[in-house]
Amino acid sequence: MKTLVEFIWEQQEKMGKATGEFSRLLNDIGIAAKIVNRDVNRAGLAEVLGYEGTTNVQGESQKKLDVIANNEFIKALRNGKQCAAIVSEENDEVVVFDEKITENAKYIVAIDPLDGSSNIEVNVPIGTIFAVYKRKSLGKTITTEDVLQAGTELVCGGYIIYGSSTMLVYTTGDGVNGFTYDPTCGLFILSHENMKIKDDGNIYSINEANYIYFPEGVKRYIKHCQEDDPETRRPYTTRYIGSLISDFHRNLLRGGIYIYPGTKKNPAGKLRLLYECVPVAFIAEQAGAKASDGYRRILDIQPEHIHQRSPLFIGSKSMVEEAERMMSEFSPEFLDEYQRAEKS
Ligand code: AHG
Repeated sequence: MKTLVEFIWEQQEKMGKATGEFSRLLNDIGIAAKIVNRDVNRAGLAEVLGYEGTTNVQGESQKKLDVIANNEFIKALRNGKQCAAIVSEENDEVVVFDEKITENAKYIVAIDPLDGSSNIEVNVPIGTIFAVYKRKSLGKTITTEDVLQAGTELVCGGYIIYGSSTMLVYTTGDGVNGFTYDPTCGLFILSHENMKIKDDGNIYSINEANYIYFPEGVKRYIKHCQEDDPETRRPYTTRYIGSLISDFHRNLLRGGIYIYPGTKKNPAGKLRLLYECVPVAFIAEQAGAKASDGYRRILDIQPEHIHQRSPLFIGSKSMVEEAERMMSEFSPEFLDEYQRAEKS
C-alpha cells in the first residue's frame, strides 16, 4: 500500500526536487479534497444542498457546495503557505495571499473547486480540477505573468472525482497516477499506476442537443462516429454525463473522446481554459492521448484572461486527430470566429 503523500515524496526525490514544498502543496489539496468529499457525501441534507443566492463571474448561480468547496481549497492552500495566489472559477479576481506569509511561496494554483455542480442533486459524480504553475515573481508582488501562463509551463495537473469511490488523479509530467480514497483510514492509496488511454476508443461524449449550433466539422465528426464500419468498431457508443471530470475519467479508463465545441451561440464553448481544459489536457497527453481546441494543442494556447474559455476535443489520439481533420476540412473559418469572440 502506497499513500499519496509517500508517492509524492518518492517522485520528488527521484526527480531530484525533494524540497518538500510541492509535496506539501499537493498534500494540502488532498486535505481539502477529503473535507469536500465529506460534504459532497452529505449533499442530500439541507444545509449543503441548493443555491447560495449568488452568481460567479460566468453569471452562473453558485450552489452552496460550490462556495463550500471553494472556501475549503482556498483555506487549505493559504494555511499550507506554498501557494501565493489562486485563480478560481468562483472568484472574479485572482485571490492573492498575504505577501508577508507567502513571500517564499513558489506556486500558483488555478482551480475549479466543484465542476459539474449542476449534477449535485441527482447523485452524479462531480469533480475538482486543478493546475499548478511555478510562480515567476518569487520574492516580488504577483503579476499577470504569474497567472497567465501557457499549459506548457504546468508543474502539475490533476483532478478529484467524487464518484462511486473518490479518486485523486494527477501528473507532474512523468506519467499519470490515480489514488483511491479509503474512508476507513482517511488516506488516498495508490490504485491506478501509470494510467494510459487507448489510441482508438469507441466512446464519444458530446451534448448532441446542441447539434444545430455546432460547426460543420463537429457535425461531420458525429456522423462519422455513427457510421456502420465494424472494422473500426463503428458505430461508436455515446456516453455523456454532463460533468467533464466524470466523462473524462471514464474515457481515460476505457478509451474515447469528449468534445465540448464552440457553437454559433457560444463560439468559444463553455469550458474554461486555465482550470478546466489545461489540467485535463496535461493528464491526457501524459496518458498518451491528445487535447485540442479543434485546431491547436490546448497546452500551447497563451491565455489572455483568467476566465478565458476554449472549445475542447480530448481523448484517444486517433479519435481527436480525426475530429481535428474534419474541423480543418469543413470549418476552417471557425478558429478565427471563436478567437474573435473570446477577445471581445
Ligand atoms: P457546471 O459546473 O455548471 O455543472 O458545468 C459543468 C461543465 C462540464 O463539467 C460539463 O461537461 C459541461 O459543463 C456540461 O455542459 P452542458 O450541460 O452544456 O452539456
